[in-house]
Amino acid sequence: MKDITGTTAVCGLMGCPVGHTLSPLIHNTLSELLNIELVYVPFEVEKNRVEAAVRGAYALNLKGLNVTVPHKSAVIPYLSDIDPLAKTIGAVNTLVRTPDGYKGYNTDMPGLYRELQSEGVEIAGRKVILLGAGGVSRAVAILCAQYGAKQVYILNRTIEKAKEIAGEVNEHYGRECMVPLMLSEYGKIPKGKYPVIQGTSVGLAPDVDRAVIEDRDFYELAETAVDLIYRPAKTRFMRLAEEAGAKTYNGLKMLLYQGIIAYELWNDIRISEETAQIVYQKMKEALGIYEE
Ligand code: ATR
Repeated sequence: MKDITGTTAVCGLMGCPVGHTLSPLIHNTLSELLNIELVYVPFEVEKNRVEAAVRGAYALNLKGLNVTVPHKSAVIPYLSDIDPLAKTIGAVNTLVRTPDGYKGYNTDMPGLYRELQSEGVEIAGRKVILLGAGGVSRAVAILCAQYGAKQVYILNRTIEKAKEIAGEVNEHYGRECMVPLMLSEYGKIPKGKYPVIQGTSVGLAPDVDRAVIEDRDFYELAETAVDLIYRPAKTRFMRLAEEAGAKTYNGLKMLLYQGIIAYELWNDIRISEETAQIVYQKMKEALGIYEE
């Protein structure tokens, strides 16, 4: 632990629960590597205490906060300002101190974008396949529209949810870029190779023997396959995609970069890829045996 003095800045994570978070590791490693006098601590905040927590954090002069489940939308009414992307997504995971209060950002989706960029996966001008239509997938759909995807096929077990997201995003961005489909309807996607993003909860530990689509034909469509899950390190979705010849990635780098971007916002700096990689190694070590 760094030496804490009278001038040490404090940031933290508010959520419930917070016991298994990797965020303190990310941020305290960054402070150490960059020699910045900032410590990062977890704060367990119950659902009915969100307003008190945001106001209290501001009163205590906290430089910034991350926000996790279940408070990402609940904090919004207590912010002085909100970044447009976070507003469209309707979820904030980073609060940055300003003279008027905290400004809210979403760094999860820019974090995913930075993961894709670091792996050479382009979204702009591409057709993308998105599996799932829950909260996370909705944010990914917005990200794809924001960064200029030509089309996004949203495949979900419950078609109504895919339709709802497609309608909302198409309207918001003023173009018909979202195409809702049932999971079994992947045959309607023109043959070709696509980036595929897996945003469902299927395959998350301990449920490691399942993939949201088991059919091997589906995976012939995958050029690169990104699972937003990072436990286990290699999901069944990734294995099936790999067997069909796709490059595969998990969600750990998204977690890394959402933290990196938050740290950049708090300190008004740009963190190098070399520093990010050191933090990434530490995250993998902290998760235990972690092959990729
Ligand atoms: P999150 O906020 O993590 O996105 P969520 O809103 O509960 O979580 O969404 C979970 C996603 O996983 C949804 O797309 C869900 O499909 P439905 O909308 O049909 O429920 C998907 N999902 C979860 N379990 C599934 C299963 N056994 N088979 C297929 N899809 C599943």
